[in-house]
Amino acid sequence: MRISVIGCGYLGAVTAACLAQLGHEVVGVDVDAAKIELLAGARAPFFEPGLDEILGSATQTGRLRFSTDIADVEGAAVHVIAVGTPQRKGENAADLSYVDAALEALLPHLGPDDLVVGKSTVPVGTAARLAARLDEAGCGATLAWNPEFLREGYAVRDTISPDRLVYGVAAGEEGVRAAKLLDEVFAEALAHDTPLIVTDYATAELVKVSANAFLATKISFINAMAEIAEAAGADVTALADAIGHDTRIGRRFLNAGIGFGGGCLPKDIRAFTARAEELGRGESIAFLKEVDKINLRRRERMVEMVVESLGGTVYQKKVTVLGLAFKPESDDVRDSPALDVAVRLNGLGAHVVATDPAAIPNSIRLHPQLGFATDTRDALRGADAVVLVTEWAQYRSLDPVEVGQLVRDRLILDGRNVLDPQTWRQAGWTYRGMGRP
Ligand code: UGA
Repeated sequence: MRISVIGCGYLGAVTAACLAQLGHEVVGVDVDAAKIELLAGARAPFFEPGLDEILGSATQTGRLRFSTDIADVEGAAVHVIAVGTPQRKGENAADLSYVDAALEALLPHLGPDDLVVGKSTVPVGTAARLAARLDEAGCGATLAWNPEFLREGYAVRDTISPDRLVYGVAAGEEGVRAAKLLDEVFAEALAHDTPLIVTDYATAELVKVSANAFLATKISFINAMAEIAEAAGADVTALADAIGHDTRIGRRFLNAGIGFGGGCLPKDIRAFTARAEELGRGESIAFLKEVDKINLRRRERMVEMVVESLGGTVYQKKVTVLGLAFKPESDDVRDSPALDVAVRLNGLGAHVVATDPAAIPNSIRLHPQLGFATDTRDALRGADAVVLVTEWAQYRSLDPVEVGQLVRDRLILDGRNVLDPQTWRQAGWTYRGMGRP
């Protein structure tokens, strides 16, 4: 199929490359010329394992192109809207201006049989509004909503082999036709028995935000248990292992620590709250405000623990911060708890030296006041305290004996509860996890 993808940020670039890899002829369009130049040279504008490789192989087949000219979408039968929906400044609600602008830009180029497919995360009700706009424009094209569940770090795998597909389509013939076109787009995944849910627009939009709200709630639940464990002298990691054995609960997303961040969970729960209030149902998901608060408290707690462990002040102490990205295998520092902890410690007068395998350039752009070291050993040298806040494999596998030779004081604070306390303590370290005795 010929497919256009509007917006070549995280979601769009991965979607365009994967659809081309699956055999479609794809053009990716974005207004950012620098991004398009990189992508056209088969280079990802951000860190994502495996993306460079599929950009390379798909470009070589001639099936993948990138352009800054929206007119290049002409000839495609399916147009995917994959632009961002960031949090509005000073508000909880999502900023839909990029979605609206993408549709307006597409309108003059749409043919009567074309299908517009929304993938961006939007407040429920957006698809119906956009479908009405398409009708009003009278171009004959139809709209479907097809939320995306890809995780950064696994984006290629999640796109090529999703764990489910959701189509939100219009009622009647129009919807049947839209679903048929989407079946062609996802023929490969469907051939591998990927579960498919065909539903209405509102349900498809809600599936996406409620999935992220559930994940955020799961993380804040275990972090709330960590707070109780701290007060009661219990171990939240053992607790998570024990309750996780109940398959109704499950162990995944029960890792307590400094909490969730990134470009999705935090802004999605806030936008969901704002939308529920607009719908007069704020009460129904008022708990998400608590989820957000618990999450933000854990970063503060980490900072408090560093201050306490250093005898009441971090002023002029060298603190090594291991990790800046919001999670491993990513260079994304949007709403990153790790970067936040580094910034707060720096604000309290600590001499922070932060390191990360991928996220230093993005962190420097936002917080040039921090100290950075690209080499882990350099970062650790002379440290009064070491704070692990993003669980990259290279930090999880640090040898406490070897690292002990580099630091001034053997004090480690594990903001992701990924180190073995016993091994570190045996090597002469003071180890402190979160919600662990
Ligand atoms: C999240 C969802 O997992 C995807 O399904 C969704 O498609 C995506 O948002 C999106 O809306 O686009 P992502 O933001 O890539 O994906 O990251 P996650 O793997 O969900 O992690 C989010 C945050 O939660 C990270 O900061 C991570 O460190 C934290 N986390 C995760 C915990 O603190 N504890 C856990 O047990 C799991």
